Amino acid sequence: MKRILMFLGMACLTVSMLAACSDTAEKSTAEAPANEAAGSARLDFDRAKLIEMAIENQKNSYAPYSGYNVSAAVLADSGEIYLGANVENASYPAGVCAEHNAIDYAVQCGERKITAIAIVGGADYKVSDYCAPCGICRQVMREFSDPKEMRVIIAISPTDYKEMTLEELLPESFGPSNLGQ
Ligand code: THU
Repeated sequence: MKRILMFLGMACLTVSMLAACSDTAEKSTAEAPANEAAGSARLDFDRAKLIEMAIENQKNSYAPYSGYNVSAAVLADSGEIYLGANVENASYPAGVCAEHNAIDYAVQCGERKITAIAIVGGADYKVSDYCAPCGICRQVMREFSDPKEMRVIIAISPTDYKEMTLEELLPESFGPSNLGQ
């Protein structure tokens, strides 16, 4: 009986995760880019939309300890967009960054390559400064991107932002190819 209940529980969890993936992920409206070659990242995406979605998602941040609310919108190679916010914990190291949450969410929805990420942050649910990704988040991005192609956008508004490649933020990085992947 216990086994049957456990199986049913697992099945429900899987179904609800798949539903969450298709509900929340949004197709990018970006036109097919002129520079899109087979296998290369889509770089002609709608930056303003990605930033707007990150700003809109800041309300989901849970940061009672730092009071600093971060949000990220990840554009996957599929064209889908995935959101994440920082979620803190009373046991501080258990907290998770916004970028990390957004990327892990994308991966759990089946994505394996990301093209870009827009990040916003600031105290008290405001977007007040350019929020550069922490070192761990840069490494998380590295796992699922080509650092030369991957765009990292740190934004204050849809028109006020800085954009760089992951390679600029994380030069000489360690990645899957170091382990033969
Ligand atoms: N934070 C992020 O979510 N992303 C970063 O890249 C930098 C820091 C969060 C972690 C913590 O909840 C708060 O910002 C203050 O460090």
